[in-house]
Amino acid sequence: MKPRKFTRRQVIAATSAGFLGTMINLSFKPFTIVNNTQVKKLAINGGEKVHPGTWPQWPVWDQSAEPGLLDMFRSGRWWRGNGEHVVEFEKKYAELMGAKRCLATASGTTALLTALNVLGVDAGDEVLVSPFTFIATYNVIFAHKALPVFVDSDPETFLIDPKKIEARITNRTVAIVPVHIYGLPVDMDSVNKVAKSHNLKVIEDACQAWLAEYRGKKTGTLADLGCFSFQNSKHLAAGEGGAILGNDEDLMDRCNAYHNCGRPYGAMKPVSGNAYNGLNYRMQQSQALILMSQMKRILKDNDVRLSNALYLDKKLKEIPGIVPYKLAEGATRAVYHMYPFRYIMEKFNNVPKEKFIQALNAEGIPCGSGYGKQNKDGLIEEAFASRGYKRLFSETRLKQWREENQLPGNDLLCDQAVTFYQSILLGSRSDMDDIANAIAKIYENRASLV
Ligand SMILES: Cc1ncc(COP(=O)(O)O)c(C=O)c1O
Repeated sequence: MKPRKFTRRQVIAATSAGFLGTMINLSFKPFTIVNNTQVKKLAINGGEKVHPGTWPQWPVWDQSAEPGLLDMFRSGRWWRGNGEHVVEFEKKYAELMGAKRCLATASGTTALLTALNVLGVDAGDEVLVSPFTFIATYNVIFAHKALPVFVDSDPETFLIDPKKIEARITNRTVAIVPVHIYGLPVDMDSVNKVAKSHNLKVIEDACQAWLAEYRGKKTGTLADLGCFSFQNSKHLAAGEGGAILGNDEDLMDRCNAYHNCGRPYGAMKPVSGNAYNGLNYRMQQSQALILMSQMKRILKDNDVRLSNALYLDKKLKEIPGIVPYKLAEGATRAVYHMYPFRYIMEKFNNVPKEKFIQALNAEGIPCGSGYGKQNKDGLIEEAFASRGYKRLFSETRLKQWREENQLPGNDLLCDQAVTFYQSILLGSRSDMDDIANAIAKIYENRASLV
């Protein structure tokens, strides 16, 4: 098979046409695993790769950003304090997302730190959080000397299981941080309902969910505050960067003040001296200019990702032992920072997941294994052993925390999850066929992997 190389423009043109095709022509040809490619020897065992070609690279530079960046650098107005670009980006991002206000930050982590601070998370508090996530989601809780209490995941949706939230609330719980992991929207009505009945704040970790929708509204606009990341791998990338969205003017004024060394903002009372608490989590002008250029592509890219994800859903579920994610109740659009599925090794002759991943990589299909069991991270016990945590939380509470930190749904999910990175979904329809064919080939040849 000859290596196929596509320019990004060809890839996007091909996949956009495919998207329209799926929308207009709903007649889907069911996947069949009988074809010559699949019965051949596995690439990991010396056979031919199903996909010898390349995949779309990420991020993609937009040359139209260059004149603006050069002007800004030459002007010496590099920080938000004497430039207009960060404010311009905030206005555009709030409009795009349907939020009243946006505050740009240095990163997703600093967005979360600011949100937790402004919503009053304090030393000795408890915060309920999803365990199937990036380390930053719970590190920011540790940074506040609060206790992250992990709520079990629903392995079908890859998300926090809203039915399991209430049981983990104590009289110290102050907030919930649901995570729209991989751009899959959490059932926010259920989360908000529990939060309301216990007077808890809700911060959406939407760091992987730009323009995902829940009941037609954008994720990150559905709770007290929503936090985003614009780190290099993200759909909207600027190397580093972040944002907070919110509809409450007072809260957003306080976010602005906190991220800017405590300088009062908006309707906050001007004071002499330093009356307000705060740090420096400001976004730079260059980040904002890059983000505005990247914003030109995100809608179209998300359409391509969605179209290919829906295509893969149909193809992969035909393969025994492959279970694509299920959207949570109320989710109306996912944006796929990763395309996730579960690998049921029992259907693959008990071939371990790691071996399956190696075999799929060998076929030319890059894939990963999702998150580890973060609720068992070493950094947690390290924090508990510190002087501060010993003062803040009793032995009895930490013992109970350890006993309750058994999350069977999340354990199963971590054992079974396999993911494709978002730029894979920017490939062509035939690339998606290669993914399905490679998995089917591994299934057919599973006996040769043991
Ligand atoms: C779910 C989640 N939360 C928080 C973050 C932190 O964002 P950043 O890396 O921009 O600090 C990330 C970044 O990868 C993330 O994926």
